[in-house]
Amino acid sequence: MALSKKPYKGTRDFLPPDKRAQDYLFEKMHQSAQLFGFEHYDGPLLEEVELYKAKSGEELINDQIYSFVDRGKRFVAIRPEMTPTLARMVSRVHREIPKPIRWYSIPNLFRYEKPQRGRLREHWQFNCDIFGAPGRTGEVEIIQLLISFLENFGANESHFEVLINDRTIVDSIFSSLTPDKETIYKLYKLVDKSKKIPDEVLLKELKEIGLEEESQKGFKRYLELSSFEDLFKFLQELNLGEAAENFKDFYQVIEGQNIIKYLNYDPTIVRGLDYYTGIVFEVFDKHPDNRRAISGGGAYANLLQIFNEPALAGVGFGLGDVTLQDFLQSHNLMPDCSKAINDIFISYQVPEGYRDLTQVASALRSAGKKTVFSLETLKFKKVFSQAEKSGANFVLLYGDQEKNDKCVIIKNLASKEQETIELSNTEEIIKFLNK
Ligand code: HAM
Repeated sequence: MALSKKPYKGTRDFLPPDKRAQDYLFEKMHQSAQLFGFEHYDGPLLEEVELYKAKSGEELINDQIYSFVDRGKRFVAIRPEMTPTLARMVSRVHREIPKPIRWYSIPNLFRYEKPQRGRLREHWQFNCDIFGAPGRTGEVEIIQLLISFLENFGANESHFEVLINDRTIVDSIFSSLTPDKETIYKLYKLVDKSKKIPDEVLLKELKEIGLEEESQKGFKRYLELSSFEDLFKFLQELNLGEAAENFKDFYQVIEGQNIIKYLNYDPTIVRGLDYYTGIVFEVFDKHPDNRRAISGGGAYANLLQIFNEPALAGVGFGLGDVTLQDFLQSHNLMPDCSKAINDIFISYQVPEGYRDLTQVASALRSAGKKTVFSLETLKFKKVFSQAEKSGANFVLLYGDQEKNDKCVIIKNLASKEQETIELSNTEEIIKFLNK
């Protein structure tokens, strides 16, 4: 039986046009992170499963992780997210390096998901995190970076929004509804999926959790909150003004900044990963056909403690390449990456061309010109379609006449302007390309 040519379920082959598109996204990621002074890091694809068990949460461990037992009987995971690896790495060096620590990476991650639009089994994720920034500055800087990254593609507040919540607030609200820690944990999980399930299912599950009727009402009121003002009023009513203070603090810092136009309060944002302890946020596409999260993140105060290190507050986000590309495409913000971009296509119509033009190709490459050498004799009528396919802006022609005259013809494919230049005069050729 012939083998399947398809890549493994939920993964992608990157043919050159696909890789070009991904490289374009990666380039913007590097640029944006470096504009904010973030340094690039990376870690291994494999980690011990224990690392995720400590803080990532049930869903990741039970349903999504790829794991195996290695020859040394270690229980190994293919990384499903980067934050635990980052925390492990930071825990090794944080004493020696100045704070705040600002690091970014673009790892590929594996999750055993049901593949669908925006969800695959392998994706690349832009991760930016800050450790040890004072007050609310780290949180604000991270959100600034995230917004500035999307703005660099030409996106604005008509294209996306940042939905935000604070787990300390959610903790106090839920604690006012029930004293039971396990019930609170279940409420978190219910909130996390509340947008994806119909109301009847939500109500049924809420009843199953065993909340008192009065508390069920409180929970439903919580889910209806839709603005920062709503939230602050609700907290006053519940006598939870103190919990609000912390978040108000953050709100006051961002209120005067231009990122505020992107931010909206959303009670359903609590995030599925267990390590978040402070603000949590998701970037949502506003396009009606693509209402999904492009990115998610938040603040985590205690992640380093799993390595027996003192608490060092961290905050960051992850943004997936699949969801980013869907977002850009739905708003026509993705450039056409179907074609390569090169400077010149060198062709020859006589067999001696290969030998005669090698020097020209080398000189052009030394001058930094992206040069595609045809490597075969091409009939005149085929040259232009080949040059077009190679993505070149110029074409070089070398036929009988040019061979006899020891010259080449260079043609600008867009303007159709052409010049005959001596074969040995590479300086003149480069000048024409730079015109
Ligand atoms: P996350 O919400 O699990 O967070 O993932 C962040 C983003 O990665 C999602 O919003 C989505 O764009 C993308 N993503 C996640 N899973 C998939 C998938 N199966 N297929 C395609 N894209 C996906 C985290 O992973 C946190 N560790 C992020 C973080 C960094 N928090 C703090 N620092």
